[in-house]
Amino acid sequence: MQVTAVYPGSFDPITNGHLDIISRGVRLFDRIIVALLRNEDKAPLLPLSERIEIVRSVVSRYPSVTVDSFDGLLVDYARARGAQAIVRGLRALSDFEYEFQMALMNRRLEPGVETVFMMPSEGYSYVSSHLVKEVVRLGGDVTGLVPVEAIERLKARYASTGPG
Ligand code: PNS
Repeated sequence: MQVTAVYPGSFDPITNGHLDIISRGVRLFDRIIVALLRNEDKAPLLPLSERIEIVRSVVSRYPSVTVDSFDGLLVDYARARGAQAIVRGLRALSDFEYEFQMALMNRRLEPGVETVFMMPSEGYSYVSSHLVKEVVRLGGDVTGLVPVEAIERLKARYASTGPG
């Protein structure tokens, strides 16, 4: 059986921690769909088109990984794409409560899709899109924590809007 996993998120921007999860996932799943949430209620810094471009460019080395966007319920999207699994990364205990609730709600909504938690390398356990944005906004160096494509986009964004 071919196993397809959806790896959902805002990816605002994708970090090297996310990429670490993808690189581990390609060893487990036949196909991974990185699915970016289209919902603008979350007020992302980078527009969806830019976030998709960054993800596409950094996952191009993995033939089994594709990039897409979705709105509505994640489980409806996973079902429509024939996915058997949802992948989520767990960095620390603080991620657990929210992730556990989401996984159980998703299971209740669609028992046929299993949530699989994966741990990134411990070197990325403190890296989040939120903190990366704050550091870049305030002029700090995030080299090695996010792909260079993301750093350039973030800098360009803050150069046009100002550090706030
Ligand atoms: O990167 P994020 O912001 O932590 O990702 C959150 C995401 C996209 C996985 C979550 O917000 C989601 O699944 N949204 C889709 C709407 C949905 O299905 N909500 C019910 C979840 S139990």
